[in-house]
Amino acid sequence: MTDRIAQIRTEAEGAIAAAANTQTLEDVRIQYLGRKAELPNLLRSVAELPPNERAATGKAANEARKALEAAIEQRTEQLAAQELDQRLQRDRVDVTLPGDPPPQIGRLHLITQTRREIEDVFIGLGFNVAEGPEVETVYYNFDALNHAPTHPARLMSDTFYVAPTSDIFDPDTRLLRVHTSPMQVRAMESQPPPLYIIVPGRTYRPDNDATHTPQFHQVEGLAVDTDITLGDLQGTLLAFARAIFGEDRQVRLRPHFFPFTEPSVEVDVSCFNCTDGVMPDGSHCPLCRGSAWIEILGSGMVDPNVFEYVREYGYDPEQIQGFAFGMGIERIAMLKHGVPDLRMLYDNDVRFLEQFG
Ligand code: DAH
Repeated sequence: MTDRIAQIRTEAEGAIAAAANTQTLEDVRIQYLGRKAELPNLLRSVAELPPNERAATGKAANEARKALEAAIEQRTEQLAAQELDQRLQRDRVDVTLPGDPPPQIGRLHLITQTRREIEDVFIGLGFNVAEGPEVETVYYNFDALNHAPTHPARLMSDTFYVAPTSDIFDPDTRLLRVHTSPMQVRAMESQPPPLYIIVPGRTYRPDNDATHTPQFHQVEGLAVDTDITLGDLQGTLLAFARAIFGEDRQVRLRPHFFPFTEPSVEVDVSCFNCTDGVMPDGSHCPLCRGSAWIEILGSGMVDPNVFEYVREYGYDPEQIQGFAFGMGIERIAMLKHGVPDLRMLYDNDVRFLEQFG
């Protein structure tokens, strides 16, 4: 009997060693140690053996069972580790694959977008971008821009003076600039002609209603060179209007008045919302109010009186000419994107802001 036990044991040990995976090993375990297997049956029937065989058979069978159990346990560990390794190899994540693009966090405000768009157009036309101080002096904001002492914009009610007790006729008195035009003078003081600049920036006026906020944005333009004419101004602004509002645009110049340009004009762009002021359904265009034209900026030829303030920096009005223009960034943005109320640009309502960019 002990021979048979030894034989089973050898056979089982071979099968355990040969098992290639945990599944086969489990089959081997059932085959040799399962309820119906020979060795456990032998153990259960030891009592039925002749007394002189019982001890030796029981001992041998018991040892064989323990040895096989240990061998199976060891082999299980081995195979499980192998299988885990294989799974790790197979399921390895390829970290070189592109991940999901990160969600966009924030965006440029419509005013910033529009400012950059305007800058791009003029940079393309050969202009440089300059910036100037928001706290200005009476000299640069009014005097050197040929504003008469009686000009109404100088009044406390029309301009934010930094100190309310200031003498508003003192050239050094500080104020928040009411336009970006003061940089015309500062730029000419800092370099001789030819000069081609645009000046984007914040401006301030004590107004607050559906079409005015106390702080707003402008872009100033100034070109000074020899032989500059009103035709150059018109061509430049036509290129600008077409770049911003579409290739089919026209511009027209209407006589106007500004203290620092002569002649002065207001510039209109042909309406991009209708045909000749009429909507497809025959109604009046609400954007241009049926006029077919939309005012976009103020402009003109630099007044020789302004050049007199910077003559010593190389600006002799007998030698050079210039054109200048100034536009509101908010106005351009609202026209282009159909924003109905200026204040929406400052409410910071994400439902509004998310629509742009
Ligand atoms: N500074 C003017 C304003 O704020 C706009 C303007 C008009 C600027 C004519 C100019 C210009 O440079 O030539 O209303």
